[in-house]
Amino acid sequence: MKKNAIVYASTHHGNTKKLVEEIADCYDVALIDAEQVRHVDLSEYDIIGFASGIDFGKFYPSVERFLQENLPKGKKVFFLYTCAKVNKGFTKTMQVEALKKDAVLLGEYGCRGYNTYGPWKLIGGMNKNHPDRKELEGAVRFYRTLLENQK
Ligand SMILES: Cc1cc2nc3c(=O)[nH]c(=O)nc-3n(C[C@H](O)[C@H](O)[C@H](O)COP(=O)(O)O)c2cc1C
Repeated sequence: MKKNAIVYASTHHGNTKKLVEEIADCYDVALIDAEQVRHVDLSEYDIIGFASGIDFGKFYPSVERFLQENLPKGKKVFFLYTCAKVNKGFTKTMQVEALKKDAVLLGEYGCRGYNTYGPWKLIGGMNKNHPDRKELEGAVRFYRTLLENQK
């Protein structure tokens, strides 16, 4: 059977980690924490996801650097993220970097995540209890559809 992996970083509140763990609970997928390891040989993986919280409109630097340094040419790639407010533009830089490696882009899934950045901290944060169950199930559904589309 082909192997899949998700490279992630989730340093703010572990919001994105909840998404990737939900997927890993349902499917055989290797999770790689880009905050813990800098280099992994990804050549054995068929589909590779990159997952992150959003920091000033972009994926975390550790995840972007991981892609730049480790993604082999021609892989199938997808993106997951949690953020204050969903915006498709958040994956733009990652898409550009992946395309430099001739990646095939399979899609993206984003949802809200608990956020206590700046003034939000003073009022207990925004998006409390997000990602919620519906959003976690949305991530699994996204992944399932992505796999089905490969058949
Ligand atoms: C320094 C900082 C910058 C952020 N910038 C954005 C942003 O530009 N857009 C957005 O929608 N959310 C932004 N957020 C919210 C986080 O992306 C959100 O809370 C996310 O779920 C955190 O994911 P994590 O817990 O997996 O690290 C920011 C949060 C922090 C702490």
